Amino acid sequence: MAQNIVVIGSQWGDEGKGKIVDWLAEQTGGVVRFQGGHNAGHTLVVGGKKTVLRLIPSGILHENLTCYIGSGVVVSPEALLGEIDELVAAGVKNVEQRLKIAPTCPLILPYHIALDQAREASRGAGKIGTTGRGIGPAYEDKVARRSVRAGDLADLDKVAEKVKTNLALYNVQLKHLHGAQTVDFDEVMDKIRSFRDRVLPMLHDVANTLYEKNRKGEKLLFEGAQGTLLDIDYGTYPFVTSSNCLAGAASAGAGVPPQMLNYVLGIVKAYTTRVGSGPFPTELFDDIGAGLAERGHEFGSVTGRARRCGWFDAAALKRSIQINGITGMCITKLDVMDGMDEVKICTGYTLADGSHSDILPFGADAVAGCTPVYETMAGWKEPTFGVKSYDKLPENAKRYLKRIEEVCGAPVAMVSTGPDREETIVIQHPFA
Ligand code: GDP
Ligand code: IMO
Ligand code: MG
Repeated sequence: MAQNIVVIGSQWGDEGKGKIVDWLAEQTGGVVRFQGGHNAGHTLVVGGKKTVLRLIPSGILHENLTCYIGSGVVVSPEALLGEIDELVAAGVKNVEQRLKIAPTCPLILPYHIALDQAREASRGAGKIGTTGRGIGPAYEDKVARRSVRAGDLADLDKVAEKVKTNLALYNVQLKHLHGAQTVDFDEVMDKIRSFRDRVLPMLHDVANTLYEKNRKGEKLLFEGAQGTLLDIDYGTYPFVTSSNCLAGAASAGAGVPPQMLNYVLGIVKAYTTRVGSGPFPTELFDDIGAGLAERGHEFGSVTGRARRCGWFDAAALKRSIQINGITGMCITKLDVMDGMDEVKICTGYTLADGSHSDILPFGADAVAGCTPVYETMAGWKEPTFGVKSYDKLPENAKRYLKRIEEVCGAPVAMVSTGPDREETIVIQHPFA
């Protein structure tokens, strides 16, 4: 039996992690975010009502559940408080009391956002297509050892000193490198003073609490953001995010020993999507891709940008399964593929030098040189939307799932057939 589960995105993000985390959260003693920031957009639908979470863990709709933000997350206090207020306005109770934040979290401040946006504008056609939320610059500050961390808020003089030093560096870049508006010291400090009193009470020794909960036998759920192919090390670099999105990152990012990560649930969309720039071997530019985008409502939950759509890429999944140690897969959005005459699975690539690979190479240049090799299967005409048991799935849909298992080399533990919490099929319960 698995006591703790790490849920990660196995492709380029937006696989449906939020829905599954919300579904699994019921049984747990806490849900923990361990990387990323409010670049994430995790959609939950409960009884037809939609909630989009960006920074707050996807367990918050469960009334008595405590949610944790670990040290690996870059926190925008402004975005955090805005999200809390939205949830409270929607009737969610005690959000602030049920949210615990590691004091070691680096903060995202206005100069990170200004830099992110100015750099993207300067890159022109070569832009990464970031969410513009300041994520990259905030992680840079962390490794450069100049972050203002959440715990620093207790000492405003210390914060002011750090902000001053950072602005001296960044305003030169903003003005002279990018021809952009500089960021005013007093405005940053006013902003910090405006959120400080609400943020300080949420600070908590997250690592210690998680350790103790685990020792008492409580189940924990670690919620990944983004996806493996956006990972800073192993993704399509430089078209990636600025954190490690792998299951292993849950250990460092939440502050728990790796032995606590008992089960890795890889969330896998039944086809592939990507938002932002960068190579995408199975991308479709025809009516089939447009159909997936339309039926799957493939528009970013954070930025509203259209997501690029393509066939299922089993060779990319193979990479994901290996580097995350995926115990079981949850295939989401199967219903979006209903009604197609045929469906394709990419089983490998012809590389730029003419050789064959059955696994996605690393980095944007190598991936850009991949021409997919497809296997074609018959589609299914019967609807899978809302189906709640595996037996009731159309035969061809089952064949598709079986073939994915065979090519990728990991079992399908769950299938999602609609956005609602209830539209879920369990084959092998990850906690069982
Ligand atoms: P996340 O970032 O991985 O949490 O995924 P997003 O929430 O950004 O994107 C997933 C989208 O698909 C959301 O709009 C979900 O409501 C929706 N969704 C999740 N699972 C299913 C499913 O099985 N079927 C359908 N049709 N929609 C789903
Ligand atoms: P969830 O958790 C999909 C993408 C951006 C861009 C790249 C870098 O909802 O799956 P960043 O702002 O992180 O510096 O942008 O990463 N990206 C995502 N794509 N889902 C996400 O999160 C993403 N978070 C970042 O589009 O290409
Ligand atoms: Mg998303």
